[in-house]
Amino acid sequence: YRIAVFASGEGSNFQALAEAANTGALGGAELALLVCDKPSASVVRRAEQLGIPAFVFNPKDYVSREAYEREIVMRLEELQVNLVVLAGYMRLLTPVLVERYRGRLINIHPSLLPAFPGKDAIGQALDYGVRVSGVTVHFVDEGMDTGPIIAQRAINIVSGETSESFSQAVHGVERELYPEVVSWFAQGFVKLDGRQVTVSRTSG
Ligand code: GRF
Repeated sequence: YRIAVFASGEGSNFQALAEAANTGALGGAELALLVCDKPSASVVRRAEQLGIPAFVFNPKDYVSREAYEREIVMRLEELQVNLVVLAGYMRLLTPVLVERYRGRLINIHPSLLPAFPGKDAIGQALDYGVRVSGVTVHFVDEGMDTGPIIAQRAINIVSGETSESFSQAVHGVERELYPEVVSWFAQGFVKLDGRQVTVSRTSG
């Protein structure tokens, strides 16, 4: 079972997925490819260190979003990627990817969706003053953080919480939850039917 991880930044989720793959905690899935739209991003260095192949591109070198997504799809097909895993990939996808990989394309978002979609979900939650936020793993559809939800974890926001302390808590939860969800996919436990998601921990 082969996954591709799309990331634009730090890459702590990428790293957690790679480590889980190495210890067998990904349900037998392997990281076949990193896709990154920012040549200077830390995640590119992490992939080099881990020996994971990367497709790093600069969107400005392409005439349109569709053009670079077509190239990405070509590479995913070459490697026979089963699941596309967005982990801090800061670009909205077009139907080129969304339609081709519907039901096989997931994202992790640092809030309890549908609360606080879009950029800086952690800042939005703290500014609003909610006492509970968390992490959501969901299928990707045409919208911004609107796809069917697969798994969520709640995290309390304590008094005196700062965006630094809360993002640390969020990253800690993400490092556990994302590999676990990917392992469900690798074991065939997750099904999507319209907007209906089923997670059956016993396969078949
Ligand atoms: C994570 O908090 C994720 O929820 C959001 O972007 C962040 C990526 O962090 N979509 P990292 O690059 O994996 O460290």
